[in-house]
Formats: sequence, structure tokens, C-alpha cells
Amino acid sequence: MTKIASVVGARPQFIKASAVSRRIRLMNEEAGCERVREVLVHTGQHYDDNMSKVFFDELEIREADYNLGVGSGSHGAQTGRMLEKLEPVLQDEKPDVVVVYGDTNSTLAGALAAVKLHIPVGHVEAGLRSFNRRMPEEINRVVADHVSDFLFCPTDTAVENLAREGISRGVHKVGDVMYDCALYYAQKAKSRKNLLTQLNLSPRQYALVTIHRAENTDDPQRLTSIFRGLNRVTETGLPVVVPLHPRTKKCLSGLSAKLHDGVRLLTPVSYLDMIVMEKNAKVILTDSGGVQKEAYFFEVPCVTLRDETEWLETVESGWNVLAGADEERIEEAVASASVPTCRGDFYGDGDAAGRILGILLS
Ligand code: UD1
Ligand code: UDP
Repeated sequence: MTKIASVVGARPQFIKASAVSRRIRLMNEEAGCERVREVLVHTGQHYDDNMSKVFFDELEIREADYNLGVGSGSHGAQTGRMLEKLEPVLQDEKPDVVVVYGDTNSTLAGALAAVKLHIPVGHVEAGLRSFNRRMPEEINRVVADHVSDFLFCPTDTAVENLAREGISRGVHKVGDVMYDCALYYAQKAKSRKNLLTQLNLSPRQYALVTIHRAENTDDPQRLTSIFRGLNRVTETGLPVVVPLHPRTKKCLSGLSAKLHDGVRLLTPVSYLDMIVMEKNAKVILTDSGGVQKEAYFFEVPCVTLRDETEWLETVESGWNVLAGADEERIEEAVASASVPTCRGDFYGDGDAAGRILGILLS
């Protein structure tokens, strides 16, 4: 029996880890025995029901074996608390491998705690780079990649980025687990088709927006300029719907712009509801990594509210436009958003999780 400890903590990690957990369940069912035991460790980085519990319920992830309850804090304090609490769990459980996802502080802590205990580390979504070291995520990714034994890259770009940093051992291009999830859960989301009616929205007649990057939320000028851009979009007659990340909600009081009525702020929505809202949007505006890709998966034009992106393929193929936090560029990008004909097979075939598991077991 192989024991895998999965360390998660933030919303996108529950989604990504669900793909691998499901594959483990299927493998054990097919084998008729427990070939793989997954120990699920939730650092507690995200803790509101609509940022955590809803994903466990909806994605049928079993309850975490350990919830470290670290909560929010500065980078050092939050990551430090995670390290302190992860160490005894890993010492007790003695997993064969620790798997971490993405680029959050939970990723960094999981990778560091494991490597210091000489436990092999698998990094899912390895090799992504924004080349902007002021982003906390960039530091987390670089460190996690450099201490990982298995580097599961979603794209060719990711493999090339690692090669430039001298990392080639243990690198596997497996595809994107978020694509696995998008395909699998889009089927389940079909039963939610009344959601748009409940929200009084019509298909292709609204813009969907998410904002949570520190570079936007923590800079009142950028955040104000983004919301001014959203106001401009509503002036063209297109309503704007924003499921608001708690970080962004906290920063709204710093806005020096009054929101137009057409800008509708919602609490964060569940993943299945998000899929319905994404699939039916006319255009998606976001600074999220995951949401940029989901726009691509669901063939909806995307405007990225950042100055750079890790997901270059979406831009190069014409599906994604970088508008930064500039209100005029945001308005123009939405006005000219169209559906390109070019689509590449950038993110695999929907079974990245199967490949990851196969590699870990071999
Ligand atoms: C984190 C990740 C980011 C990822 C995002 C996914 C880091 C450095 N950042 O950003 O890469 O894209 O998660 O959503 O790890 N808060 C709540 N309730 C919660 C969680 C957070 O109110 O359940 C508030 C707190 O005020 C907290 C703030 O949001 O201080 C930021 O949370 P934190 O987890 O530190 O970073 P995120 O912005 O969520
Ligand atoms: N998401 C969600 N509800 C929301 C906003 C986002 O379920 O209200 C999902 C989204 O569909 C994607 C993931 O959360 O799968 C992205 O997470 P987030 O934007 O928080 O982080 P990032 O991908 O930028 O790290």
C-alpha cells in the first residue's frame, strides 16, 4: 500500500485535489483493495464555509483527516504556523510522498515540511511562472519546484520554465488537473440550470468577474481603477456579476469610486454554480489563475486584470487579453472581446490525475 499525504488549504486546492482523490478512489475500487491510502491535510488557510466546506460537500471530498486550523495572517506567521503543525502530522503518518498543489502558502509549507523530513514531494502545477517576484505566489512556486521530486507540469511552457532553471529530473508533463475537474463537474453542473433565472441573468448577457490578487486588492488605486472599468462596462448595457472573495470585500471601503447599480456583488459561489456562471457569461474578467483557464475550457473570452499571466497559451491563442488594472483598457477589452476560432490542446485530455497517480505508483 502506498500512502500519499495531500496538503491543501485554499479554495483552488480543494478543487485540484478532488481530481486526484477521485482517481485514488477509482483505483482502489478497481483493485478491490486499498492500493493507495490518501491522508488529507487541510491547513485551514481558507475557513469560511463558502471558501472551504462547500467544496468538500459538493466535490464529494471526504472530511480532511487533519485540519490544522491555521487561519489568516501575514505570510511569515501563516506559513510558520503551517510548518509547525504539519511536521508532527507527517512524522506520525510517515507518508511515502507528500503532494502539494498550485502556489499558495499551503503549497510552500507542505513542500518545505516534507523535504525537511526527507519525504519525497510531488508538486501538481509545477513550472508555472509569472516572472514577477513581488507576487507571493511566484516565490511559493519557485521554492516548491526546487524542493520537489515529482514535478507535474500542466503545459509545455511549464516544462520549458523548469528547464531554464536547470530542473529536468522528475519533470512530467501530465496535463492540467483543473481541466479534469472542468470536464467532470461541468456534467454535474447541468442540473443547476435554474441558477441564472434565480440570479435574474440571461445567457451571454452578463460579464462575470473575480478579483482577489494581492497586487489588485492591496493597492487602492488599482482596485479603484478596476471597479471604474467595471462601471464603464455596465454603461454599455452589460450587467457585471462579481462573486466577491473575502479579501476583496475587506478592501472595498478603500475604493474611491461609487459602484454603479449594474455591478452586482455576490458572496463567493460554489464550484458547480461557478461553472454555470462561467459557461453562460458573455465575457469573464479575472485576476484568478484558475478562472482564466476555465474561461478557455468553456470557450468564453477572458480579460485578465493583471499585467502578466502564467497561462500564456490562452493569450497567444487569442482567448485572453491582458488589461492590467487600467479602466480604459478594461472597457476596450470587453467591447472587443470575441470568440476566436483557434483552439489548442494545451491542457491535456482530462486525465492529468490518472497520469499523476500512475507516476507516483511507479
Ligand atoms: C490565497 C493564495 C492565492 C490564491 C487564493 C485562492 C497565498 C499567498 N495566496 O490568497 O495564491 O489565489 O488563496 O483563493 O497563499 N479570508 C476570509 N475567509 C477565508 C479566507 C480568507 O475572510 O476563509 C480573508 C482574510 O481576511 C485573509 C484574506 O482573506 O486575511 C486573505 O486570505 P489568504 O488565504 O491569506 O490569501 P488569499 O487572498 O485568499
Ligand atoms: N471559484 C468558485 N467560486 C467563486 C470563485 C471561484 O468556485 O466564487 C473557483 C473557480 O471556478 C476556480 C477556482 O475557484 O476553479 C479558482 O480559485 P481562485 O480564483 O480563488 O484562485 P486561483 O486560481 O487564482 O489560485
